[in-house]
Amino acid sequence: TLQPVLLCGGSGTRLWPLSREAYPKQFLPLAGEDSLLQATWRRVAPLADAAPIVVAGEEHRFLAAEQLRLTGAPAAAIVLEPVGRNTAPAIAAAALQATAAGADPLLLVLPSDHVVADAEAFRAAVRAACAAAADGALVTFGIVPDAPETGFGYIQAAPGEGVRKVLRFVEKPDADTARAYLDAGGYYWNSGMFLFRASRYLAELERLRPDILAATRAAFAAARRDGDFIRLDRDAFVACPAQSIDYAVMERTDAAMVLPVEVGWNDVGSWSALWDVAERDAAGNACRGDVIAVDSRDSYAYARRLVALVGVEGIVVVETDDAVLVARKDKVQQVKEVVAQLKADQ
Ligand code: GDD
Ligand code: MG
Repeated sequence: TLQPVLLCGGSGTRLWPLSREAYPKQFLPLAGEDSLLQATWRRVAPLADAAPIVVAGEEHRFLAAEQLRLTGAPAAAIVLEPVGRNTAPAIAAAALQATAAGADPLLLVLPSDHVVADAEAFRAAVRAACAAAADGALVTFGIVPDAPETGFGYIQAAPGEGVRKVLRFVEKPDADTARAYLDAGGYYWNSGMFLFRASRYLAELERLRPDILAATRAAFAAARRDGDFIRLDRDAFVACPAQSIDYAVMERTDAAMVLPVEVGWNDVGSWSALWDVAERDAAGNACRGDVIAVDSRDSYAYARRLVALVGVEGIVVVETDDAVLVARKDKVQQVKEVVAQLKADQ
């Protein structure tokens, strides 16, 4: 059985002012008519032979449930986190739910906020990875890196073809290290998408971070069920250490394998990444909404009211009901500093 796990917990601060705590990027139609969450489900629906398990923050339960319902997805188990504790516990909760009735499916763990342009190639890759995962590997999908980005995990793959051993997994190296990996070759970015047996993940977490598994187990055992919602126990989950699967398990396990893929993957982590995947006119402008561009190039504009660009190049303008962002496209990583400042001022 292949069961998708859709992770819906991030807040996408670098896509401010569109992505907000109340309405994070996975719920927004950033690339096409579907939200990123809906697109994620549709991409894997043909592969799935069980309803998806969604893991989301308590405050997003209706958004997640309603958006999936609109895609015609079978009623999902929606595991609700009273607080965010990052992906190691979130995936553990999904694995506990998946194995609760004695089953042990292959879990296809997917961030719900990525773009994959070639869905067919992606599904072929997942099919190709099933045998290794069924045999006990923790499989990740590797992306050929094109810049020394520091926001990704780096995977050194054993030589060969297809699914291979991971020789080394380094989560978010510093810039010099990332540059050295690119120069050396043989490294891939971790896409953050994983395939493994539910029981295998739980066993590795037990070995490497028994504290995280114990806290998640306690929160799951005391969870309140309410229709499709499974509300993790607040006190038990608050006590869980916050850690990502990458640091908690993938960097340290011997069972990691990687399948390099070319599927048009983009984690749309910033406005410039969104420009990369967007449809652009002949001058390289990507415009959503009511936008007029005159003598302007390589810019991104998202507007609710009418916005006009005149004589600009490499600019991002995002206009929403209560905030306007104007930024240089090569500086958009710093948008998260705006969010940090807003939080500090609160
Ligand atoms: N349910 C839930 N709860 N989901 C969460 C939580 C949480 O507490 N924290 C994060 N997520 C979801 C996010 O919404 C996102 O879809 C996914 O898990 C990954 O979290 P990010 O916060 O976006 O991680 P990252 O981008 O810093 O790093 C990860 O992804 C990179 C690729 O985009 C790592 O896996 C890196 O190694 C990888 O290169
Ligand atoms: Mg991310």
